[in-house]
Amino acid sequence: MIAVADVSALRKAVKALPGRVALVPTMGNLHQGHLSLVRHARDVADSVVVSIFVNPLQFDREEDLQAYPRTLEADQALLEAEGVELLFAPPVETIYPESMAGHTRVEVPGLSDIFCGASRPGHFVGVSTIVCKLFNMVQPDCALFGKKDFQQLLIIRRMVQDLALPVEIIGVDTVREKDGLAMSSRNNYLDAEQRSRAPTLYAALKNTAAALRRGRKDFSTLEKEALRMIAEGGLKPDYIGIRRAEDLSPPGKDDASLVILGAAYLGLARLIDNLEVEIP
Ligand code: PAJ
Repeated sequence: MIAVADVSALRKAVKALPGRVALVPTMGNLHQGHLSLVRHARDVADSVVVSIFVNPLQFDREEDLQAYPRTLEADQALLEAEGVELLFAPPVETIYPESMAGHTRVEVPGLSDIFCGASRPGHFVGVSTIVCKLFNMVQPDCALFGKKDFQQLLIIRRMVQDLALPVEIIGVDTVREKDGLAMSSRNNYLDAEQRSRAPTLYAALKNTAAALRRGRKDFSTLEKEALRMIAEGGLKPDYIGIRRAEDLSPPGKDDASLVILGAAYLGLARLIDNLEVEIP
């Protein structure tokens, strides 16, 4: 694996890669969720590029940015073992050489302002901006994103469509712990007692999915029931939303492809998860 930190070395290394190139953008502290994207990338492309960059523009709280785990050496070893061809791990000055405040932004309005966007103002503008920039730096044929961050995936798809970016976007299923908790770097913030309560979020989503499959259409009551279940499990619910999977708009009674999105606070962590549901 070649590791590069600056853009000219990156461009040179990408040019030398054979065949179809896949990009897996990450913020590092890699776990099996990230590695599943890497393995999927291997299936759909000839060369795999992974980026590791803790993007300050998408953090809405300075403490969160400071506390975010940085484990470059361990990450590098994991990617090496996966046979990744190229790692791009730039320092902040390479991405934001001038003030971040004056940096051009890419915004997907609407989709960026609901759910996680409402709880974390500016977050998704930071995400779409860095992903657009990484696409321009690497110029991959395709890029892979986890469905774990369902709203993020839809925002990237919409950005690519609106700006006619020549990158195919591929969504990859969420990787979970045995008890259902979606893997996340932020799970490390949980102590043992909190960790035992964390699967409640996924349990509430599953409960809601089962009710929808049984034919219930009283979406707002179902949302309230899920919020109650999360609170009773000792988490502080942020939101639960039953939406159309295609664009997160409110569903009608005849919509068949839905997604249940949820977020909750637990100690220092903010857990997010979602579940797609096909109504028979
Ligand atoms: P990060 O949280 O590091 O996640 C990188 C990618 O891994 C994202 O596409 C995310 O959805 C995916 N991922 C994380 N946990 C997963 C899991 N349990 N199962 C499947 N996929 C999972 O998301 C970001 O970084 C950043 O916002 C980024 C897109 C890199 C822009 O900075």
